[in-house]
Amino acid sequence: MRNASQHGQWSSRLAFILAATGSAVGLGNIWKFPYIAGENGGGAFVLIYLLCILAIGIPIMMAEIMLGRRGRQSPINTMKDLAAEAGASRFWSWLGWLGVIAGFLILSYYSVIAGWAMAYVVRLASGVFEGATADGVSNIFGQFIADPEKLLAWHSLFMILTMLVVARGVKGLERAVKFLMPALLVILILLVGYAMDQGAFEQGVSFLFKADFSKITSEGVLTAMGHAFFTLSLGMGAIMVYGSYLPSKVSIGSTAVIIALADTAVALLAGLAIFPIVFANGLEPSSGPGLIFQTLPIAFGHMAYGSFFGCLFFVLLVFAAWSSSISLIEPAVAWLVENKNMSRMRACIWAGLVTWVVGIGTVLSFNLAADIKIFGKTFFDVLDYLTANIMLPLGGLCIAVFAGWVMSKENSAGELNLKRPLIYSGWKILVKFISPVAVIIVFLKAIDLI
Ligand code: TRP
Repeated sequence: MRNASQHGQWSSRLAFILAATGSAVGLGNIWKFPYIAGENGGGAFVLIYLLCILAIGIPIMMAEIMLGRRGRQSPINTMKDLAAEAGASRFWSWLGWLGVIAGFLILSYYSVIAGWAMAYVVRLASGVFEGATADGVSNIFGQFIADPEKLLAWHSLFMILTMLVVARGVKGLERAVKFLMPALLVILILLVGYAMDQGAFEQGVSFLFKADFSKITSEGVLTAMGHAFFTLSLGMGAIMVYGSYLPSKVSIGSTAVIIALADTAVALLAGLAIFPIVFANGLEPSSGPGLIFQTLPIAFGHMAYGSFFGCLFFVLLVFAAWSSSISLIEPAVAWLVENKNMSRMRACIWAGLVTWVVGIGTVLSFNLAADIKIFGKTFFDVLDYLTANIMLPLGGLCIAVFAGWVMSKENSAGELNLKRPLIYSGWKILVKFISPVAVIIVFLKAIDLI
């Protein structure tokens, strides 16, 4: 097996942790987690999500990093080589393709929402929310998403920003995330402080942590599991390709645990900042994708220096989204460079263009095409459902099966290099049995087969 990737290598373990945490912490934590928790009734959903992180997310993250580091190429070529090494079918390279397609689809709508966050940087800086009521804030949001040209402009800008970083390799980002992630954490804690002081904090906490299982549906369980994959960036090769740039001596197990903990902490803090404000202002926790854009500005509108902190918050959210978006497209770009003999620049232009075009569908699904529905869902809803609830868990299932059943024990144990044999056995049981079975049961349940 190769001992380095042709695309380069992280400078240290810390650099990898920051990059992978940068990938994991993003819109999923601050925008998506609160609104899907709200739509699915809170506590019970949060508990299932946490269980999925522990029992499925962490072991699959270890598997993904391990496969990436062993293959040291784009996920498509990595899977092809590892399958050959294990004497398994070439068919496994399809796992890489599934990931590349999922990455395009996710980034296409991710960029549109990141565009909303950028627009909110400007709005907050302008002070329009100062003293605004809940209704006033909702109106501003409603008018904004009704305007396709504005959404398209911000989506385009975000795609350009993403492709600029990917074109230059990930070294620059390595430096940026070092400052951005801690800054995001500090602002989040400040907001939780505000929510404690001014919001209906107890109501928020009990909504998030008091499990009422009568509110949970099998669809909700699928969403919780899908989100565990989404928030940890698993199931499509993003973490695999980041793993392919990981120096050989770094321990994979503890690194994966750190990344998962950091990611979960950010999501829970976001929930604690948002729900108290939701309840204190009589807003609906189930108001969907617009939730944070309709709640947080109320808080900022009434805080001392709120416009400043609000602006800063959305700046950091954009950066969090930015450090995630690059990982969504990296597998495709790495493959184009490896197989199509393209320069990184050319590969970025092509991959970026395709994503940008698909993103137009999401832009329109909030306004002109809001009434065009497939199975009762808009284009944005379909993309979100298909990727997070189906493609990522399916990708994760295949990764677990490959790591648990196809790869030889010597190879997986050697690459993981865990200190204690007991931890290896625990991991093996999780990827071999628990994670695949859990994913399959949740799938079957969601389509009403069991
Ligand atoms: N994890 C990121 C978030 O929570 C999104 C993301 C980045 C992602 N890379 C990914 C999701 C790969 C799935 C797969 O915002």
